[in-house]
Amino acid sequence: MAQSVKGMRDLLGAELRWFQHIEETARRVFGRHGYGEIRTPILEELEVFKRSVGESSDIVNKEMYEFTDKGGRQVVMRPENTAGVVRAAIQHKLLLSNDPQLFYYIGQQFRFERMQAGRYRQFWQIGAESFGVATPESEAESLLMLHGFLTELGLKHLVFSINSVGTPASRPAFHAAFRTFFSARSEQFCEDCHRRLESNPLRVLDCKNETCQRALAGHPTLTDHLDEASARHHARLKALLTELSIPFEENPRLVRGLDYYTRTAFEVLSTDLGAQSALLGGGRYDGLVKLLGGPEVPAFGWAIGLDRLAMVLQQIRGDAPCTTPVLLIPLGDRAATAALKLARTLWDAGVALQLETRGGALKKAMASANRMGIQTVLILGDGELDGDIITVKHMATGAQESWPLGEVAMRLVAH
Ligand code: HAM
Repeated sequence: MAQSVKGMRDLLGAELRWFQHIEETARRVFGRHGYGEIRTPILEELEVFKRSVGESSDIVNKEMYEFTDKGGRQVVMRPENTAGVVRAAIQHKLLLSNDPQLFYYIGQQFRFERMQAGRYRQFWQIGAESFGVATPESEAESLLMLHGFLTELGLKHLVFSINSVGTPASRPAFHAAFRTFFSARSEQFCEDCHRRLESNPLRVLDCKNETCQRALAGHPTLTDHLDEASARHHARLKALLTELSIPFEENPRLVRGLDYYTRTAFEVLSTDLGAQSALLGGGRYDGLVKLLGGPEVPAFGWAIGLDRLAMVLQQIRGDAPCTTPVLLIPLGDRAATAALKLARTLWDAGVALQLETRGGALKKAMASANRMGIQTVLILGDGELDGDIITVKHMATGAQESWPLGEVAMRLVAH
């Protein structure tokens, strides 16, 4: 029997319902902030990622699904969507005006990674990117949107972990200080770190090896080597997050696995499942538009992994809210016809409802209602039809009442 490719899975049932609920929430919350959707192709030219994510990154070095297509082009199944959004915004000349451009996306990404809980080779991201504004206020706006989104989904224990990685101009000062620090204890660092020191010293801070992490104790920090404008920017962002009561902590080792960040880099950690785990990451990338051939336009954004988010929500909240919380159950032939007519009126009025069309015993239909997480059951039998009423059962409390048939739509809409 054929199986799905390793690391790629079918989405169905309870997990898919969480995906849908998260996506609907994202569209609602981001729409409120004026972000519009963008959809870019899954295949991009290899150069797009090599130049942006960076040749020293694990993503470009080890994890990309890249191949030559039948036309001889070197293409990649996108490992992330920021570079594709930037490529599209340049191609369609969206960044030529002075107006900010705000985008969000929901889509599959591909990385040939080692499998872990919540990590796959085809995974989903929801991301938001804002172009054209370089201020800390624009970052606070984006982070507020993110905080609102996660809070609306029911996550309560969030910490924003932030750092400033400076600018290409301020980084040489940090590199010099870091190289001196490294040479004094170079034998304690792994071989990979020795290579990283040559290609991109920031990556040493990100090494997963515990010995290297210990050897880093007391390392020079990026924030101590910022240019004046970056230092002011960082201080202002922290002041804004404090004003807005967004819980944050500074993490001087946070550098992220992609090369395009400037100034603010951040991750959001959740302790909703006990141990702290990273849900998402992002930051400012002021040089990327220019690097990919566009005008000089500042940008800020982030992306969250949908797979892990759905897993966390399933564990802390159980099943996703049912999208059709009402079930209409007719009893007998006469009621079956009347129920179809009533259901049509209710659907036309905008009520989300499922109709029991199997016929048969009430007990069986009620058992299904329980399994589906239905909140309200409407029961229509001969007795109800004769009395021009409907029996309403509220599943959470078991309470039962009668409503006049003519008022069902109004009462359910008001519900
Ligand atoms: P990233 O940190 O590489 O950043 O990925 C963002 C999020 O995608 C991660 O925090 C994680 O939740 C999820 N993710 C990454 N790899 C996997 C995987 N193999 N399986 C499941 N989930 C995964 C970016 O991709 C940047 N484009 C974020 C960004 C947007 N920066 C600025 N704008």
